[in-house]
Amino acid sequence: LSLAAAHAVDRYLVDALIGADAMLDAAVADQRAAGMPAIEVAPTGGKLLWLLARVSGARRVLEIGTLGGYSTIWLARGIPDEGRVVTIEAEPRHADVARASIDRAGVGERVEIRIGRGAEVLPTLAEEAPFDLVFIDADKESNTVYLDWAARLGRPGTLVVIDNVVRGGRVADAEDENPQVRGVRAGLEMLRDDPRFTATALQTLDAKGWDGIALALVV
Ligand code: DHB
Ligand code: MG
Repeated sequence: LSLAAAHAVDRYLVDALIGADAMLDAAVADQRAAGMPAIEVAPTGGKLLWLLARVSGARRVLEIGTLGGYSTIWLARGIPDEGRVVTIEAEPRHADVARASIDRAGVGERVEIRIGRGAEVLPTLAEEAPFDLVFIDADKESNTVYLDWAARLGRPGTLVVIDNVVRGGRVADAEDENPQVRGVRAGLEMLRDDPRFTATALQTLDAKGWDGIALALVV
């Protein structure tokens, strides 16, 4: 299996099932123009978030890690008009880019951006809870903190999605001391050991490379 072959399949799947989207393309273009990292979810991952929001009937969504708002737009499109995505972004400049893209996409009224570190913002969200769906996609070192808040701000039945749980295979290398890799592994061990969750995870090979997502249910 070559990465080039996997990328060709990813392009085929995106063309076949998703296609171009002017508002999402513009969000990515503005994010690139602002010099922000190209680490938003791939189109297939974005549409998966949309689909999970739809099938779960989510009305209240929590996203940790807004970046340029690409995944936020997908999530906001997956909830009803009166629903709400609360999305947390540590970098004010990123939040500005995201705000403009989210508004241009026509879902601005459904999205509230909270600027600050997750660990500071999450304790202030009790009034917006319980969240039906939580998407964790921020600093990987904090995944256990974010999972703890996902359980506290969720309810039995809340779906928790964690991005980037494979990291090019590094998660399975017990010798890998990289803080992000360790953070990802600690999060997965928490999903295994903490009785508030039951979970699985899937590897992905898409335009963003070899990575994966964890899917957890708050029980
Ligand atoms: C990184 C973070 C992400 O959320 C992602 O999807 C890919 C890479 C990173 O920090 O390297
Ligand atoms: Mg990510």
